[in-house]
Amino acid sequence: MTAFALRFLVLSSSFWFLVLRAQQPYLQERPDFIKPCSLKDSENNACLSELIENMFQHWQNGVPGLRGVGALDPFRVGKLRIAQRVPPNLDVQVALRNLTTYGLSQAKILNSTSIFKSGHYATGFHVQLSKITLKCNYKLRGHVLVLNLNSAGVLNSEIDNLEFYLGMKMKPIQSQDLTFMNVTAIKTDVKRVDKVRINLTNLFGGNRELEDSANQLFNENWRVLYDVLRPVLTQTFDTVLLDRFSKIFQYVPAKYLYQGFD
Ligand SMILES: *[C@@H]1O[C@H](CO)[C@@H](O)[C@H](O)[C@H]1NC(C)=O
Ligand SMILES: *[C@@H]1O[C@H](CO)[C@@H](O)[C@H](O)[C@H]1NC(C)=O
Ligand SMILES: *[C@@H]1O[C@H](CO)[C@@H](O)[C@H](O)[C@H]1NC(C)=O
Ligand SMILES: *[C@@H]1O[C@H](CO)[C@@H](O)[C@H](O)[C@H]1NC(C)=O
Repeated sequence: MTAFALRFLVLSSSFWFLVLRAQQPYLQERPDFIKPCSLKDSENNACLSELIENMFQHWQNGVPGLRGVGALDPFRVGKLRIAQRVPPNLDVQVALRNLTTYGLSQAKILNSTSIFKSGHYATGFHVQLSKITLKCNYKLRGHVLVLNLNSAGVLNSEIDNLEFYLGMKMKPIQSQDLTFMNVTAIKTDVKRVDKVRINLTNLFGGNRELEDSANQLFNENWRVLYDVLRPVLTQTFDTVLLDRFSKIFQYVPAKYLYQGFD
């Protein structure tokens, strides 16, 4: 009796495992704000620009029915570590926690291109974000410009007019009689930043005078700091975007987004 029950349990659980594996959930109906675009080679595909803009705006709180993709606005990252050594201006180890970013849903897509090459679609977008604000807890050790620091507190930042190019490679794959795009690579390249303001609290154990002058120094030299941090920031951003876009494209059938797919 017990042996039978056990065997039944084992059989039925592996049965459910198979069922669950086969049925990767996908978006059952195309939302009205999504209109399929042509992916034919083009220099400026206004349809693609609108598509991406609409996805950013309408799915700013996440994609209905899709787990593992959180809100875009505010966009949260639990933990981020940056270690960067670029003498003489910077040699730091930074740990950021509870990073919250506002403004991403307001992305404007200035133009977009698409080409088909050796089995891949490559699409590119020029993205403009007029204002991004960012808040997190920070822990920092090392030296920045002329200052030696070892502190923990709150970091606030504002970025004005960020423009970047986003290149994305994707390949059609079949799943459950439908075509989905497998996003295989994402690469961004910042083309323009007008201003970055930074404010870190508690830089010198609560001494406000020193803290204010340190923040002033950072703000006067933001471009120097931005230039040395740029590679690591870009790499982090690419990883975050790739994760998000792959999950969304695994969930949204290609035919909702692009013409000519089943
Ligand atoms: C993380 O940030 C959010 C929004 O700023 C806040 O509500 C939450 O309490 C924070 N959590 C921690 C652990 O600091
Ligand atoms: C897209 O817009 C950017 C920024 O305005 C510009 O530099 C780029 O040349 C444009 N590309 C196309 C294909 O129109
Ligand atoms: C999707 O692309 C990734 C990266 O190239 C690859 O590792 C993965 O096997 C692909 N998935 C499918 C289902 O083809
Ligand atoms: C930095 O933030 C603190 C606390 O929010 C504030 O009191 C201070 O005025 C800010 N400093 C600058 C330079 O914006």
